[in-house]
Amino acid sequence: MIAVGSDHAGFPLKEEIKKYLEKNNIAYIDVGCYTPERFDYAISAQKACDKVVSGECDKAILCCGTGVGISMAANKVKGIRACCCSDYFSAKLTRAHNDANVLCLGDRVIGAGLACELVEVFLNTEFEGGRHQKRVDQITAIENGEKLY
Ligand code: RB5
Repeated sequence: MIAVGSDHAGFPLKEEIKKYLEKNNIAYIDVGCYTPERFDYAISAQKACDKVVSGECDKAILCCGTGVGISMAANKVKGIRACCCSDYFSAKLTRAHNDANVLCLGDRVIGAGLACELVEVFLNTEFEGGRHQKRVDQITAIENGEKLY
């Protein structure tokens, strides 16, 4: 199950991503927003990320104007590793190396075609583990207030 969410600026892109998920028979929960009316991205970020952390959803796809604000909010939720991407390589490697569980996209930055390609590679790339596990664990340690140095 995938959580999708947006603010008003990311709303059109979220709707395009929902069409892509439906076409590919990928189940999702839309946490809002549900209209193009002004809506703050932190609310959708927290709602979607809570579903990932609880295990109700495996990953989340979040959209705002740039993808940046919503990624900042998402990364404040404990257990979330969110990456704002606008290129294929980063969307792939943030899964393979960083075990990202949230992909953030900017409606005002990329088109729906590229966004759906990024969603596809993000959802279909496995974390490689190995040497990358230690680094992901270090991110978690920072989250837990530990000093790495
Ligand atoms: C909304 O105008 C815009 O600031 C927001 O969607 C996002 O781009 C913030 O990072």
